[in-house]
Amino acid sequence: MPLLVGREYNLMKTVMVDLEERSYRIYIGRGILGNLGSYMKEFNYGNKTLLVSNPKIPGKYGLILKESLAQNGFEVITGEIGDGEAHKTLATAEILYDLAFTCGLDRRCPVIALGGGVTGDIAGFVAATYLRGVPFIQVPTTLLAQVDSSVGGKVAVNHPRGKNIIGAFYQPDLVLADTDTLATLPVREIRSGLAEVIKHGVIADYQFFEWLEENIEQLQNFDPEALAHAVAVSCRIKARVVEKDETEHGLRAILNFGHTVGHAVEALTGYLAFNHGEAVAIGMAVAARLSVNMGILPEKESTRIINLIRKAGLPVDLPEGLLPEGLLGCFQRDKKVSGGRLTFVLPERIGRVSVVRGIDKSKYVEFFNKEMQNII
Ligand code: NAD
Ligand code: GLY
Repeated sequence: MPLLVGREYNLMKTVMVDLEERSYRIYIGRGILGNLGSYMKEFNYGNKTLLVSNPKIPGKYGLILKESLAQNGFEVITGEIGDGEAHKTLATAEILYDLAFTCGLDRRCPVIALGGGVTGDIAGFVAATYLRGVPFIQVPTTLLAQVDSSVGGKVAVNHPRGKNIIGAFYQPDLVLADTDTLATLPVREIRSGLAEVIKHGVIADYQFFEWLEENIEQLQNFDPEALAHAVAVSCRIKARVVEKDETEHGLRAILNFGHTVGHAVEALTGYLAFNHGEAVAIGMAVAARLSVNMGILPEKESTRIINLIRKAGLPVDLPEGLLPEGLLGCFQRDKKVSGGRLTFVLPERIGRVSVVRGIDKSKYVEFFNKEMQNII
């Protein structure tokens, strides 16, 4: 199967995720929302669909999708969920299950997620569990969702004990990323997505990182060509990792670069002060400094990583008031910890990271004490 099929069709790019019988296409382009119904025709779906969205997503996107679905013979049931992380819960999933039962959705009827990562994660969780699994389609409308959360099959809800800890690996049948939908996002959400875009450059692609250094302003100014390129390259990088390690037994952990500290920052600030990308940005900057501290990454490269994050309008320092012990407590509870060993994804150089396990805890304490002192 080809790696990246960069074919120009309606200015559209297609990235294939090759997972044998779970393979699927990611369609990326401008103004392609209305193509969904016709793309769905190649699947042997039932004629009903559950379209999951939230009231903050501009209504015009839902209207375009519904028209496209109706034209192709699908009856659309709309499942509106509350906006934001607080609604990514089992309680919301239950409301969607009820709706699906009431409307008679059967095993061949797809669930479609229209929205950001929150919508995609919960709609995917419902698709994975309703009747032990029904088809799933992702229509991501935030940059973060287009470059990361809609690809790779992680679906989840939150639990009072932790974020994303109830979930599954459940691949969609297709992903449709219409980059024109990004035009209505607040710039803060674009920046949040840029954190995951930068992550892809650091973990896997030096040339893409260089391209980002040159184009970071265009991206923040919503330049459509630049955004479409960033989405396509990010999806290709993520797809190649997921193909090698779908269920995170090894390589996939590199996608967690910046996430160990990022998740701790989100949790310790009550998921209020930072959105996901901002927390990941802090996590990547901390990981770069930790890597220098451990003699893995040259300081020059760390400076470049941190400068790019800063240039993307993202934070690079831990917030005031966090205690190193609090951070360590979060790291130890992190679901990526195995055998109680602290694990960090650290850059070796731009374009390459390694998963470092089981490093002396006292070293971390010393490092995080220094990090906290630097910001006070
Ligand atoms: P989000 O879904 O909350 O969306 C951000 C905000 O933008 C919301 O208010 C949303 O309603 C709004 N919005 C969405 N599309 C819009 C548009 N086109 N125009 C205007 N407003 C729009 O947040 P997010 O950053 O997209 O996703 C974060 C979530 O993704 C977190 O729950 C995180 O855990 C999850 N995530 C999952 C994965 C994965 O692999 N499954 C990866 C990364 C993040
Ligand atoms: N966002 C990390 C992953 O999909 O594995």
